[in-house]
Amino acid sequence: MEIDIKSLEPKQIYKLMTSIIVPRPIAWVSTVSRDGIYNLAPFSYFAGISSDPPLLLISVGSKETKEKKDTWQNIEDTGEFVVNIVTKDTLEKMNITALPFDKEVDEFEKAGLTPVPSSIVKAPRVKESPVNIECKRFEIIQIGKMGIILGEVLKVHVKEDILNEKGYVDTTKLEIIGRLGGANYCLVSKENTFELRRPDKR
Ligand SMILES: Cc1cc2nc3c(=O)[nH]c(=O)nc-3n(C[C@H](O)[C@H](O)[C@H](O)COP(=O)(O)O)c2cc1C
Repeated sequence: MEIDIKSLEPKQIYKLMTSIIVPRPIAWVSTVSRDGIYNLAPFSYFAGISSDPPLLLISVGSKETKEKKDTWQNIEDTGEFVVNIVTKDTLEKMNITALPFDKEVDEFEKAGLTPVPSSIVKAPRVKESPVNIECKRFEIIQIGKMGIILGEVLKVHVKEDILNEKGYVDTTKLEIIGRLGGANYCLVSKENTFELRRPDKR
């Protein structure tokens, strides 16, 4: 079967793309508004795109009212955000923070999460998350209703019990969540990961 993208509505294209580009990592993005209100929401159009300079990307849409989602607006206003990693333990809370709360609502309070100060940026980190990535806005590219936000990584906080003997993160200890299509998710666990070394060229 061939699917002609031009024959589909944007919602159908969304469903198609998000069910085949999987699993996607989830950036749980904390920001602070111009008025000092904390905001937290998940984004799975998320990727690391460069190490030199260290850049990551999130793609944030608009609300039904056509206004920019709060995360986008806050990053535009303050130039700062934190990407927190979602694990098995915080899955339910992450889902609460995806609800379309008004911009006056602090999603840390709504979901029962603990904001802790970051080292460089004003946006708080999620204490319950084992990895927090402090970022500053590198560029925002508006394409239609989407804000493609490039963030420069300034600092990474990692809980020590997930480090291996070389000082790198042991991914299998993280119990990290990936997003599949619709309401489906996957769990990165020791049982489901394996090593594949590159073959010798000769
Ligand atoms: C797992 C998950 C991934 C999501 N990924 C995105 C995304 O990549 N882009 C987007 O605009 N919304 C995404 N959403 C929806 C936003 O989280 C939701 O619209 C949220 O209310 C935005 O909050 P804000 O207005 O505080 O920024 C996702 C929701 C969930 C549960």
